[in-house]
Amino acid sequence: MEGDESKNEPTSDNRETGGTVGPERASLMVELRLATDADVEATLADLCVHMSGQQRDLFGEKLLRYVRKPDRDLMVAIHGGQIVGLVCVIEQAVVPGTFPEEVGERLRRFASCTQLLVHPHLRRQGIGTSLFSRLENWARDRGRGGCWLVTRRMADWYRNHFDYEELGRIREKGIEKVIMAKKFE
Ligand SMILES: CC(C)(COP(=O)(O)OP(=O)(O)OC[C@H]1O[C@@H](n2cnc3c(N)ncnc32)[C@H](O)[C@@H]1OP(=O)(O)O)[C@@H](O)C(=O)NCCC(=O)NCCS
Repeated sequence: MEGDESKNEPTSDNRETGGTVGPERASLMVELRLATDADVEATLADLCVHMSGQQRDLFGEKLLRYVRKPDRDLMVAIHGGQIVGLVCVIEQAVVPGTFPEEVGERLRRFASCTQLLVHPHLRRQGIGTSLFSRLENWARDRGRGGCWLVTRRMADWYRNHFDYEELGRIREKGIEKVIMAKKFE
């Protein structure tokens, strides 16, 4: 099935080290791989210590859905045996009804990204760039026309480092968020 990369049995095909070529190279050597069920517990333990028990349970359930469903994935970055970063991707997410109609039209064949997170002690060492580049390649491999995400504070990061453009703004629970997207070449 398209998008199924034998998630519960990682192979050399879905493992990458940060010391490869191009933008997936991290300053800090990390292994990037598609997560398995077993990685979810480790992710919660290593990266989600700031969450309450209930938040962690809910987040764990969400991450398991990314691991198990064939149209999505959880990617993790590993360093020194610890999970130091994660990002989630969906091949064809439903565009929220809060998006302007014309924006929804533009995102029709795009993948979408959520939950990009790097351990606070290891930021600015290229891990976020490695994870996000890997996510874009995942989307390209599945024939997606581009990628979109919604962000509260990091619009400039996506704009400056990945050529994303702002397509509009939405308000969720009183908080303004920016819709960022990139059409692949
Ligand atoms: C956003 C985030 C994932 C970036 O991860 P990272 O590993 O620190 O990113 P990188 O080291 O790959 O950064 C690449 C570049 O962005 C810059 N950068 C990193 N974080 C930045 C920030 N908060 N603001 C501005 N620039 C930033 C780096 O300096 C680097 O620039 P350079 O290549 O010119 O040196 C990380 O800061 C994070 O987890 N933030 C909290 C969660 C979050 O906001 N996620 C995004 C939700 S949309």
